[in-house]
Amino acid sequence: MSIRIEKAESLKQKPESKKIPFGQVFTDHMFVMDYEEGQGWYDPRIVPYAPITLDPAAMIFHYGQTVFEGLKAYRTKDGGTLLFRPDKNMQRLNKSNRRMSIPEIDEEEVLGYIKQLVEIEKDWVPEFEGTSLYIRPFIISTEPNLAVAPSKTYKLMVILSPVGPYFAGGMKPVRIKVEDEFTRAVKGGTGAAKTAGNYSAAYRAQANAKQEGHADVLWLDGVEKRYIEEVGSMNIFFKIDGKVVTPALSGSILEGVTRMSVLELLKDWDIPVEERKISVAELYQYYEEGKLEEAFGAGTAAVISPVGRLDWLGNTMTINDEEVGPLAKRLYDEITGIQLGEREDTKGWSVNV
Ligand code: COI
Repeated sequence: MSIRIEKAESLKQKPESKKIPFGQVFTDHMFVMDYEEGQGWYDPRIVPYAPITLDPAAMIFHYGQTVFEGLKAYRTKDGGTLLFRPDKNMQRLNKSNRRMSIPEIDEEEVLGYIKQLVEIEKDWVPEFEGTSLYIRPFIISTEPNLAVAPSKTYKLMVILSPVGPYFAGGMKPVRIKVEDEFTRAVKGGTGAAKTAGNYSAAYRAQANAKQEGHADVLWLDGVEKRYIEEVGSMNIFFKIDGKVVTPALSGSILEGVTRMSVLELLKDWDIPVEERKISVAELYQYYEEGKLEEAFGAGTAAVISPVGRLDWLGNTMTINDEEVGPLAKRLYDEITGIQLGEREDTKGWSVNV
């Protein structure tokens, strides 16, 4: 489909240091495309970044039929712009679409539009250490109708935001609370889809955890509240007695692109990995035996974020003296090295814009 481009008349000021708060600064342009039943997706366009108008009865406001994605563009030393495994984000967007009864997109076509948008905004890709241009594609249901049924019209939009680290301290290990009251997702629910409600339903628990000095919560399975799932903003990994253990995808865990990249790297490095159910009680047992060597999260926004302390029902697990562990550091260096075009990309993960 041919794309319409309308350039902004005036351009905004770009961040001038690496201190860019996550998700609060937006670029000059955005991508928009509409969908109507019978017609399909139509009118792809890049237009000046601006508020949009929606009918108050638009279904997104009432039943939350929506999906989103998160990927990043990186500035290379020679001034180029790279995306990291964007095909995986497009595949996951369609997986979320299927779960949320939203019409699928043409993955290659939408990726092409994202590349065009990033190309137009390439001066917004920050060059400071630890920064990147966060790309947020999302789809909202727009039909004005209070019926509890899928919308007949949608809007796909892509906005761009120069970002620094997701956790304010950067690579500094974070403290996480094992959530014992609320539930993020259950098998058969929407936990494996990237949909808004999974995130807003976490706010209550996150607010409680933050009051106690935690950066986020670690979710347990919704049925038995025993098995570790994910953090919400990232998947979780533990290094236990030389082996890496991460919860197996259960149907209620988001399949992170960074998670799959970590698993592939660990296999390449001959580090034993187990994707399996792991209960928090089992983890605590390893901790008491002195076998819990490292814990870290992996996500697009979070990259690799070491976990220095886990608190669970009054039990504290202090991991690696709350220092960055060697494996988290190695993974961070390798992944960001590939993302920035500074390390050899033997797997073809980086895509030129
Ligand atoms: C991402 O890592 O891209 C996400 O979507 C997580 C979000 C909570 C920032």
